[in-house]
Amino acid sequence: MAGSLSHGWREELSVTLSPSAARAFILANTTVMRPPHVPEIVLHLATEAHDLWLRTEEELEAIGLPPPFWAFAWAGGQGLGRFVLDHPELVRGKSVLDFASGSGLVGITAAKAGAAWVDAADIDPFCAQAMSLNAEANKVQLASRTQDLIGVDEGWQVVLAGDVFYDRNFAEQLLPWFQNLAMRGATVLVGDPGRSYLPRQHLVEQAVYEVAVTRALEDAEVKRTTVWSLG
Ligand SMILES: C[S@@+](CC[C@H](N)C(=O)[O-])C[C@H]1O[C@@H](n2cnc3c(N)ncnc32)[C@H](O)[C@@H]1O
Repeated sequence: MAGSLSHGWREELSVTLSPSAARAFILANTTVMRPPHVPEIVLHLATEAHDLWLRTEEELEAIGLPPPFWAFAWAGGQGLGRFVLDHPELVRGKSVLDFASGSGLVGITAAKAGAAWVDAADIDPFCAQAMSLNAEANKVQLASRTQDLIGVDEGWQVVLAGDVFYDRNFAEQLLPWFQNLAMRGATVLVGDPGRSYLPRQHLVEQAVYEVAVTRALEDAEVKRTTVWSLG
């Protein structure tokens, strides 16, 4: 049954975190669903029906599991994914980085919109498996990257980041990197539902959406979500 973490799971996850264990964990704790604002794609997502949903960060940490960002389609990602699908010319034929990709939601929309190559980067090793399952479900290809790419420039033509300004330290590292990428000519777009550390004064509004979200995560039914560009 989805979500019951047996003792066997605890050992496997906290000690080895093998790709196959992570994959099996994701399949056991999620349902394939269409995110409400990006119904063109499907993702393995946690719902109220899953135990994962009810667990606190501390409980998850105790069993060796980072917060399951990959199990939710965050408002910022949904807004940015919507923008990419509605403006495929932004990514068509281009090399794209989906930074802090979580489920891979934004990268999948870029691949569907015709990107030539999509790197999907997230430091949580679970994300690589979630992204692989989600890419398969959408019949697209993502190159999953697990190293920390902050400060790195591999010449991406487009850099996309959904819902990344929720933490002060993270946000402070991102802004100069994004500015450098934009200054050398990359299109840098972020999707954000009003997180605390959004560097609004450095951003230009591109689109606004009302994105249906999960009350248990956001304490709201809908989040006004903006797609911003750098510079
Ligand atoms: C709120 S989630 C957003 C996921 C996805 N973009 C979306 O909108 O659904 C933030 C993600 O940032 C990732 N993250 C945090 N620090 C990171 C780093 N230095 N490099 C890459 N990803 C990072 C987390 O693991 C998490 O998956």
